[in-house]
Amino acid sequence: MEKITSCSEMQQQARQWQSEQKRVGFVPTMGALHEGHLSLVKESLAHNETTVVSIFVNPAQFGPGEDFESYPRTLENDLAMLDQLGVDLLFLPSQDDFYQDGFSTYIEPPVVANRFEGTLRKDHFRGVTTVVLKLFMLTLPTNVYFGQKDFQQCAVLSTMIDDLALPVQFHRMPIVREEDGLAMSSRNRYLSESDREKARAISAALFSAQAAFENGEKEGCILRKIATDYLQKHGIHEIDYLTIVDPRSLTEVETIVTDVVLLVAARIGTTRLLDNILLTE
Ligand code: PAJ
Repeated sequence: MEKITSCSEMQQQARQWQSEQKRVGFVPTMGALHEGHLSLVKESLAHNETTVVSIFVNPAQFGPGEDFESYPRTLENDLAMLDQLGVDLLFLPSQDDFYQDGFSTYIEPPVVANRFEGTLRKDHFRGVTTVVLKLFMLTLPTNVYFGQKDFQQCAVLSTMIDDLALPVQFHRMPIVREEDGLAMSSRNRYLSESDREKARAISAALFSAQAAFENGEKEGCILRKIATDYLQKHGIHEIDYLTIVDPRSLTEVETIVTDVVLLVAARIGTTRLLDNILLTE
């Protein structure tokens, strides 16, 4: 696996592929890789001639007091996993090269960013859209792969791609879960043993609402109550939001007549966990 750390070298390589008309798949990550990340990489490897993965813990998407400094960094392990899968190129920009002195241009995210994570994490999506657009310009991909795990991030980025007519094909990939249902996340390693035990209730709460939906319950308030009660019964009280929304606009839906998504963010100890489930006919 080739490694590139310089932005200009990355873009030069991408231009070379472009001149050879190669189909390039791109998977941006912040590292601390797990099977969720690897599912995106495998999808890219299956559908492109060249696959690029980036690892960059992007300071611009972390707020003051968030976990930028302590975000898990497991580069050696990540390298081994990507190498084994047959990834062609790993892009590892340094912070100083990516955000050179005087960097001051940011993307204003679309309105779908102005709720949920966007209200709880000020400027988070501005950091995400900016880094992702720049990564696209450096890697010039044909296909880009993101996880449904970060449902709002997918909505924000696919809207940005449409609004700005970016010449990339967006792919949203399903959530990969641990055996007990917990959505895989680099932040799961922050959980103590007892909190990890508790955390399984998050996906179980979503599944209980899904079961009611499949049994004919179409009222948002009842489905939300089923999921909320489940969380509370299992000791999860710090729920940032638990909501049923339209998958594109992320506006709240009361009576369900078409596909919706149930989004949840909850805190267990000091760890914030996100999960979601599509409710489809
Ligand atoms: P990171 O959290 O490292 O995630 C990288 C990609 O992996 C994202 O598209 C995320 O949704 C996906 N992913 C994470 N957990 C997953 C799971 N359990 N199943 C499937 N996919 C999963 O998201 C980011 O990094 C950053 O915001 C980034 C887009 C790289 C911009 O900095």
